[in-house]
Amino acid sequence: MAKTRRLIEQNASMVDIVLELCDARIPISSRNPILSEILGSKPRLLIFNKSDMADPEVNEDWIGAAKGDGLSALCCDAMGGSGVDRIPAMIRSILKERIERDAQKGMTRIIRAMVVGIPNVGKSSLINRLTGKKIAKVEDRPGVTRAKQWIHVPGGLDLLDTPGILWPKFDDEQTGLHLAFTGAIKDDVLDVEEVACELLSILARRYPECITERYDVPDPQILSGYDLLEAVGRRRGCVISGGEINTERAAAIILDEYRAGKLGRITLEYPKGNEDDGLRTI
Ligand code: G4P
Repeated sequence: MAKTRRLIEQNASMVDIVLELCDARIPISSRNPILSEILGSKPRLLIFNKSDMADPEVNEDWIGAAKGDGLSALCCDAMGGSGVDRIPAMIRSILKERIERDAQKGMTRIIRAMVVGIPNVGKSSLINRLTGKKIAKVEDRPGVTRAKQWIHVPGGLDLLDTPGILWPKFDDEQTGLHLAFTGAIKDDVLDVEEVACELLSILARRYPECITERYDVPDPQILSGYDLLEAVGRRRGCVISGGEINTERAAAIILDEYRAGKLGRITLEYPKGNEDDGLRTI
């Protein structure tokens, strides 16, 4: 952690602005508050990535909440590209005063930026989209380095080709679960059945129609997570001898399909005041 922090500090000292990526489906669990500590007053653009997989209404709520906190923010889909072309203009707007000051002195300085976020949040995808180049996939272990290069982005922006990799901050079980749902934590350290049951319980409460449509389970709200897992397993033919359900296989199917966005556009964390059923808020 100390090494990761030092690396991000070093790289941040070379840039004018940091592009902080979070996962629009879990904007609380996919951010690490330590970044604010590391960056201090360094200008920052908060990017809700994977917004194509998140609930569009809640995406808007998150943008509003970020603005309320004094943070410039936008939603994007680094894979499909939507929203990415707004980033250079947003950066120029955040750095407007500095750019104007430079212009008064007759200087036109290239703006330097870097991307930061937890593993799997879409850092490499965003760099590739912004620069039109394919950078090598960065090691998912925080702190791992490789040679750095600046890549030019049209519109007077230079982007560091090496993103800053933050570790996710686990201070409670719910954060761990939300990171697991989205695949930010590797499955081999998890009890996949338990994770799938938790996800199904949340979906049944918040997005029951997604379960009904995808798995043909009527009234999922009245079933427990485990009953839902069995019901989905039955529908998907995960049956072993004696009619027993292979719940491990059913769990893998549910997690894969949620992560691939096949259950619909689903957000699991909300800005404060936007929900009332015990789901996570800030
Ligand atoms: P990282 O550098 O932060 O570790 O993340 P990376 O860009 O490698 O993205 C992790 C996975 O998330 C990739 O899928 C990538 O395609 C997907 N992804 C990134 N941004 C978005 C987005 O905005 N929307 C959607 N729907 N997906 C996104 P993968 O299956 O792991 O790899 P691949 O098969 O796409 O190569």
